[in-house]
Amino acid sequence: MSRILIEASILSADFARLGEQAREAEAAGVDALQIDVMDGRFVPNITFGPGVVRALRPLVALPLDVHLMIVEPERYLAEFAAAGADRLIVHQEACVHLHRTLQSIRELGVQAGVTLNPSTPLVVLEDVLDLVDVVQVMTVNPGFGGQAFLHSQLDKIRRLRALLDGRGLAIPIAVDGGIAVETASLAVQAGATVLVAGSSIYNERASVAENVAALRAVV
Ligand code: DX5
Repeated sequence: MSRILIEASILSADFARLGEQAREAEAAGVDALQIDVMDGRFVPNITFGPGVVRALRPLVALPLDVHLMIVEPERYLAEFAAAGADRLIVHQEACVHLHRTLQSIRELGVQAGVTLNPSTPLVVLEDVLDLVDVVQVMTVNPGFGGQAFLHSQLDKIRRLRALLDGRGLAIPIAVDGGIAVETASLAVQAGATVLVAGSSIYNERASVAENVAALRAVV
């Protein structure tokens, strides 16, 4: 069983202390940061741009995964890569030419990820799997942190793992949305090896370190 990676989504961090919170996650032992970019069109919320990636880049040694919840993400790939992103994750639903967009990400020298909203079937990935380094299954409808985990997506994760294994592809499956101590092991049992967690890491209930340790303890 490959090691389960935990990515801290800064969407639920204290935006007034973003640098500190990024460093807290690194000190707590997360494997990467996920930066949720939202444009108010693809999703109802607006968050960060390339400037936040640029600001965080020198503060942590962690990989910076940029989750582009924006329309026409191809417009900003070069900017986010230049700002320091290690991986650019695009929504299939936002890409008219997904194959070309993934090619463009790879040409920038960063890793390419594709992510699917809960209603999007796996079939849309069948002809681009040679261009992705990770597939991220959304277990919430994107836009906000703190939402409930959609258990209906567990079957999709299982089917995706079977699809990848059937093709001999060791592409990791990431899961994003509602990941907490109560749901993390379900996602792992279904085949996920990358857990993206926001509000279960950044909250008032416990410290970042305590929250990350609690997640680690159940996977
Ligand atoms: C889409 C975002 C969130 C975030 C994780 O809304 O992508 O899923 O990363 O948020 P939590 O862990 O609070 O559901």
